[in-house]
Order: sequence, then C-alpha cells, then structure tokens
Amino acid sequence: MVKRIVSGVQPSGKLTIGNYLGAIKSFVKLQDEYEGAEFFFFVADLHAITVTQDRLKLRQSIREVAAMYIACGLDPDKVNIFIQSEVPAHNQLGYIMESTAYIGEMERMTQYKDKRQRQVEGIKTSLLTYPALMAADILLYDANLVPIGDDQDQHLELTRMVGERFNNQYGNTFEIPKAYYNKDVVRIMSLADPLKKMSKSDEIERSFILLDDEPNRIKNKIGSAVTDSDTKIYFDKENKPGISNLLSIYAGFSDKSVEEIEKLYENKSYQEFKSDLGNLIVDYLKPIQERYKEILNSKYLDEVLDRGRDRAIIISNRKLEKVYHKVGLGRKK
Ligand code: TYM
Repeated sequence: MVKRIVSGVQPSGKLTIGNYLGAIKSFVKLQDEYEGAEFFFFVADLHAITVTQDRLKLRQSIREVAAMYIACGLDPDKVNIFIQSEVPAHNQLGYIMESTAYIGEMERMTQYKDKRQRQVEGIKTSLLTYPALMAADILLYDANLVPIGDDQDQHLELTRMVGERFNNQYGNTFEIPKAYYNKDVVRIMSLADPLKKMSKSDEIERSFILLDDEPNRIKNKIGSAVTDSDTKIYFDKENKPGISNLLSIYAGFSDKSVEEIEKLYENKSYQEFKSDLGNLIVDYLKPIQERYKEILNSKYLDEVLDRGRDRAIIISNRKLEKVYHKVGLGRKK
C-alpha cells in the first residue's frame, strides 16, 4: 500500500518546464490519486549548496520553488510543503547514510562525474556525498513512491541499496522506495542541444523555458529550438532528437499522446507546429504564473511552510530516534 510519497526540487535557480513535466506534474497527479497517503514535498536547499550560491539569490530561489509548488497545483491542505534545512533530521540521517554507503558508490554517480568538471577551484566534499543526503531525505519518511525525472534514477537506486544495506545490518528499519516516472515525459532535453538534458543551470538561456518566462520569450525560445532539416513531424529520438523533444513537450502540456499529435501535424510545417506549441505552453502556464505572483510574497506561503516544517519534524524525528537506537548511538533510553 502506498502510504507516503516524498520528493524534492533544488532551489539552484528558477524552475524549468523540465522540472514541471518530469517531476512537479507527477506530484500533483499523485496528490489527487492517492487520497489516503501522506505527502512530503520539500525545497532541497541543502543540496543546492554543493555548488557555490549567492546567499540572497538562494533565499529568493527557495521561496520561488515553494510558491511554484502551490501555483502548479499542490494543495497545502493535502500535502506537506517545507524547506529541507528547516528539518534537522535530514542532515542527521544524512550522516548515518554516509556511514552506510561506500565512497566507490558515490564516485560512480554520473551527476557527480559531470558536475565535478565544473568545480575548477576544488571539488566540494558535499558534491560527492550528496546522494547520501538524498537517501536520507527519502528514507526518513519511509517513502513508498518517489516521483522524479529519470536523471535522478541512479540516485534513487543508490537510496534503495543503502536502505537495504542498513536494514540487513541493523534489522528492518526503512521502507524501500520505488521511483515514479511521468511515463510520457521522463526527460525533457535542451532546446539548443537536444542531446543534453534541459537544465536550469545551463549557460545558454534559450536552451530552457522557465515556468515564469514571459509569453513572448516562451514563443521565441520554441521558435528557435534546434530541429533537423527534414520536414516531417514524427517521433524518432535517434534521428530527430529535436522534433522528438518538442513532441514530448507538446504531449506533456496537452495530455494528447505523441501519436495523436503526429497525426494532427502529418501535413503541417515545423513552423506551424512550433507556433502552436508556443501558444499551448503560454496558455497552460498563464494561470500558474498568475497564482505564483499572488503567492510569492504572501504570508500564506510562510504559514504553509511553517505547517509543513512542523509536521516533517515530528515524523522525521521519530524515525531518527529509532535509527540512533538501532545503531547504538548515545545512551540507552
Ligand atoms: P533537481 O532539482 O535537479 O530536479 C527536480 C526534479 O525535476 C526533474 N527534472 C527533469 N525531469 C525531466 N526533464 C528534465 N530536463 C528535468 N530536469 C529536472 C528531476 O529529475 C527531479 O525529479 N537531487 C534532486 C533533488 C532531491 C530529491 C530528493 C528528489 C533532493 N532530495 C529526494 C527526490 C527525493 C535534484 O537535484 O533534482
């Protein structure tokens, strides 16, 4: 039975349509599907500082991610929304997970291998140990399901592995979680280079669409998205990665299947397709952007985050106490 659903997003910049289609859209779907479950959706601010951040920008981004969660449809009366660093058990269990996972396992993570290339002034220790904290984020709540985009699947596999290792060593303690993917849209690619993931930290602005981008900007970015020199619109990830990516985006924002969209554009030009897609995204995001502006600086957002934090602290401390007891830390109670 699905009792707990947990996920997080890093506040390392503004959110993209990749974050939405790959993750946040699933959060909302699950919230509506699993009425009896409890949900913990957090802003993963501790994860963001594995890369140097400007303090004021980080503060702002944390609020923005939380406001975007609500604007996208998460209902604070149904789910707990909170900020990771305000719930100390994440760090505390993170250390226990570092004492469960092996360095070799951390070094194998693709994200670590990619990101370390960019830390020319020295590689932060936390960039390596990051997956241990992510495992803690999930295991703390005995999550059954973790909605993520597929770029996080390696981290989730590691979470399962260290969770099982801990259970074997100390006796059954953690629920072993499963990933939940948005089947149509597991990975949205860059509009400038469709072989790369769309990422909020990409240097090329037109490679991503932000959830709070202005309508014209969205249309221009879709208009300038890299495609191939063929003229037909059909899904073929290998030979037509650009068009295939746009088809996935179209599917994500329309709830039409890729096949249906292919049929719709059988005899139409790339230009027409792109223009319709631009309009589709703009219309879809309009109410989200309006809601977002209302919430961002509201007291309501703080109330939601306080409530979420308080509940997360209760649940996570209960688990942490059990773990400390099993490991033999501190004094016997
Ligand atoms: P982050 O902040 O990079 O991304 C947040 C979520 O968005 C998904 N995502 C995408 N999905 C499809 N296409 C894309 N181009 C795309 N870009 C991002 C990610 O897969 C992710 O689900 N380590 C995590 C945050 C985290 C977390 C957790 C997630 C920390 N602790 C515990 C789940 C459970 C991260 O960096 O995601």
